[in-house]
Amino acid sequence: MNQIEEAKQFIQQKLNKQEPNIGLILGSGLGVLADYIEEPTTIPYEQIPHFPKSTVAGHEGQLVIGELEGQTVLAMQGRFHYYEGYPMEAVTFPVRVMHALGIEQLIVTNAAGGINENFEPGDLMIIQDHINMMGTNPLIGPNPDELGTRFPDMSQAYSKSLRNLAEETANELGQTIRKGVYVGNSGPTYETSSEVKMLRILGGDAVGMSTVPEVIVANHSGMKVLGISCISNMAAGILDQPLSHEEVIETTERVREDFIQIVRSILKKM
Ligand code: HPA
Repeated sequence: MNQIEEAKQFIQQKLNKQEPNIGLILGSGLGVLADYIEEPTTIPYEQIPHFPKSTVAGHEGQLVIGELEGQTVLAMQGRFHYYEGYPMEAVTFPVRVMHALGIEQLIVTNAAGGINENFEPGDLMIIQDHINMMGTNPLIGPNPDELGTRFPDMSQAYSKSLRNLAEETANELGQTIRKGVYVGNSGPTYETSSEVKMLRILGGDAVGMSTVPEVIVANHSGMKVLGISCISNMAAGILDQPLSHEEVIETTERVREDFIQIVRSILKKM
C-alpha cells in the first residue's frame, strides 16, 4: 500500500463514518477557526503515518475533523512550510491525503504582507491568482498518472465560482474585501525593499511563504481551491519600519472575528 493510502486509512479509521468534503488549511494566527468545529475528531500530525515529522520544539499541528456550517470539514491546524526544511513532497503530502479522502474543495488561508499600497494591515484578500517565486515546484519528479496529469493547467488555479462566492459573501456581511495576486516566496527572510518593488511591478498584491505548493498539488489533484490572505503587515519598504513576526500574529488576532465570520458564511453556501 502506498503512503497516501496508509495515511488515508489511518484517518478514516479514526472517524465514525464522517466523510469530509471540504479541506481547510489554516495559516499563521488563523488556526482558531478549527475551535468552532463541532463533534471534532482531533488527530495530531505525529500519529499519522508518513506525515512529516516536526523537528521544531513546540511546533503544534493537528487535523480537526467535524461539522461546521452544515459541512463536514477536515482542517489543518498548522501547516508545513518549505523554509522549515521539508521537501516539497512533504509540504504537500496532506493535500494528497485530503484528495484521497474524497475532498474536492479546499480553502487555503495565510498571513501575507501587503504589496498593493491601497491595502492596509487587517484587510482580508481573496486570492485571484498566484506567482510562484519559491524557486521550485512540488510536481518536479516522476509523475504517477493516478495522481494527476504531467502538465497541469493552472489557468484557474483559484476557482472563479468560489472567488465569486467569497466576494458575494463579504458584500452580504458588509465586510470590506480585497482581491489580488499572491506571490509565494520561500522565506524565511522577509523580502528586501527592492524585492517588494520588483514584485509589485510583476503584478503581486501580497507576499507570503506558503500556499503556492499546496495549491499546485490541489490543482494537480483536480480540486477546486479558494484562497484567502490576511494582510498582516505592509511588505518591506512600504512603511518606514521593520517587519516582525509579532506584528503578523497581532494583526491576525485583531481580524480573527471577521475571518471566522466570512469563512463560516462561505462554508454554509458551498
Ligand atoms: N512577507 C513574506 N511573508 C509574510 C509577510 C511578508 O511581509 N507577512 C506575513 N508573511
